[in-house]
Amino acid sequence: MGVGEMGVGQVGRTPPGKLPVLITFMEMAKPPQTPPRPAPGIAQGPVLARNCTLAYYRFLYDTIGERWLWSLRRSMDQDELSRMLADPQVEVHVIHVDGMPAGFVELDWRLLPADGTVAIDYLGLMPWAIGRGLGSWLLDWAVHHVWQRPRVRRLTINTCSFDHPAALPLYLRTGFRRLRQERKFSDDPRWTGVMPPTAGPHIPLAEPPLPTPSPPEMQPTATDAPPRRPIAFRPLAYRP
Ligand SMILES: CC(C)(COP(=O)(O)OP(=O)(O)OC[C@H]1O[C@@H](n2cnc3c(N)ncnc32)[C@H](O)[C@@H]1OP(=O)(O)O)[C@@H](O)C(=O)NCCC(=O)NCCS
Repeated sequence: MGVGEMGVGQVGRTPPGKLPVLITFMEMAKPPQTPPRPAPGIAQGPVLARNCTLAYYRFLYDTIGERWLWSLRRSMDQDELSRMLADPQVEVHVIHVDGMPAGFVELDWRLLPADGTVAIDYLGLMPWAIGRGLGSWLLDWAVHHVWQRPRVRRLTINTCSFDHPAALPLYLRTGFRRLRQERKFSDDPRWTGVMPPTAGPHIPLAEPPLPTPSPPEMQPTATDAPPRRPIAFRPLAYRP
């Protein structure tokens, strides 16, 4: 199906400080037709991180997501994130290689009672674990794990144009189908200080954001204003 037919939003010139991103929303509306794949010999798990602490979650999310410009969980209210992780309906399953966390899949069961939907909120591998057959196995594991529970009617996942190029074809091969695509502008987290300037090296840095105008009462009058000099923009200091 062509991108235009899928209701991709029309966007014009990219505003300063923003990045254009294409998000693909996908779903699987019937259980997998193939048996679960055996775990690759190098992997242990998945292990459910019960009551996953914020520190452990951020270690996984930040280490995996830095390369791919994952910023949502970094910028959200951290108390809210802690409460979300304490909810037994949000599951973080971690795989290990050589005794070290190698990747995780995050399953969100909160919509199951309402309409039978389960969401894969995140699937990702540590940089050193990519391309070793672990991702397709972890996704296959998650799909079977979800569909063995009663009352599941659909499993959703999404991917964006910042993600690893293997993600979308992998989801299609695993049995997900495209629902819709959405094109939008998102804040470049390297300008807002949410991520270090070295994050997402495959995504060119957005144009510098425009300066935020100060409120009228704070603006200097013509008499006390210093001579105007061009502002040198640098990304805000990164705050983990
Ligand atoms: C996406 C991800 C989970 C895939 O896992 P992986 O272990 O790297 O992938 P696998 O080794 O299992 O290979 C999966 C398939 O992708 C293919 N692939 C690898 N690199 C690819 C690329 N650059 N473009 C397209 N396909 C690619 C492989 O050939 C393989 O195909 P096959 O099953 O027919 O052999 C993993 O790369 C990852 O975590 N990336 C970073 C985080 C991310 O982007 N997550 C997805 C968020 S939606």
